[in-house]
Amino acid sequence: MMIALKTYLDDHKSAIDAALIGYLRQYSLTDRMLRPLEYAISAGGKRVRPILCISACIAVGGQARKAMPLACALEMIHTYSLIHDDLPALDNDDLRRGKPTCHIQFNEATAILAGDALLTMAFEVIAEAASDAPDPEAKLWLQILRSVSEAAGCRGMIEGQARDLGFEGIKLNRNDLESMHRLKTGALINASVHTGALIGMGSDQQIERLNDYAANIGLAFQVVDDILNVTGDASILGKAVGTDQSRQKNTYPALLGLEQSELYAAELIDRALLALEIFDKKADPLRAIARYILYRNR
Ligand code: IPE
Ligand code: IPE
Ligand code: MG
Ligand code: MG
Repeated sequence: MMIALKTYLDDHKSAIDAALIGYLRQYSLTDRMLRPLEYAISAGGKRVRPILCISACIAVGGQARKAMPLACALEMIHTYSLIHDDLPALDNDDLRRGKPTCHIQFNEATAILAGDALLTMAFEVIAEAASDAPDPEAKLWLQILRSVSEAAGCRGMIEGQARDLGFEGIKLNRNDLESMHRLKTGALINASVHTGALIGMGSDQQIERLNDYAANIGLAFQVVDDILNVTGDASILGKAVGTDQSRQKNTYPALLGLEQSELYAAELIDRALLALEIFDKKADPLRAIARYILYRNR
């Protein structure tokens, strides 16, 4: 990883981690839920979605500080989705972010509730930021709410997760695989970039280009996740490998083979970079993140 990107990611990650912990403490009544929430949030995710949100805000000329509550809300939704994704009724995984999954560390009921809490808290955080914003921004915050809720719900991630589970053992064609991946992983990544650009007051043209960028990196992100489930090292990834094959999941390596999947991911990243052509240096972090998505090993 380039030194500059590493410093950029580390700096933003630290700020996001601190803000997330602050929100969890502010919005919990007792340790009963705070403990599992802190456990799941502090477990060491890459924070790709919040960093994308902040970077999209910066790319259109906005201030990173303004995107922070939204960035935290997106990471809460993502972390909830992982807690639930790992439950016995879904993917039944024991390891996440290098630690026992929430239902293993605590119990299944606590993991379900921790997921519910994070999803709800995300909207509490957005509502608080919206209430603190000046009146002329009210419409913007409604657009943000709409984008995030659509991405997280039945027209986004939940439909994708339902298809992922429903089609275990049933071979999807390439179009259907692509739309499943765009829903289960792409939708929240799209919303992260889109809402970051909204909060940064991007122009219609900038937002259109960023949506194109996000659609490409979002699909690439899940293609690479599929590849890493085959070729990755569990001790670096922080989660089990080989599980997609054993659960007969629909993945790019299963459909196209590893080499074609790698080529496809690279092609998507090229398209994402092309979409950023109209931007100046302020979009360099978004460019670097796109490349990182391709070469990541965790
Ligand atoms: C994993 O997401 C699940 C997918 C949607 C592919 P990440 O790879 O961003 O997981 P963390 O947040 O770094 O743990
Ligand atoms: C996770 O997809 C997608 C969501 C949680 C929405 P996967 O099940 O493929 O991801 P990992 O491999 O468990 O992280
Ligand atoms: Mg899954
Ligand atoms: Mg999973």
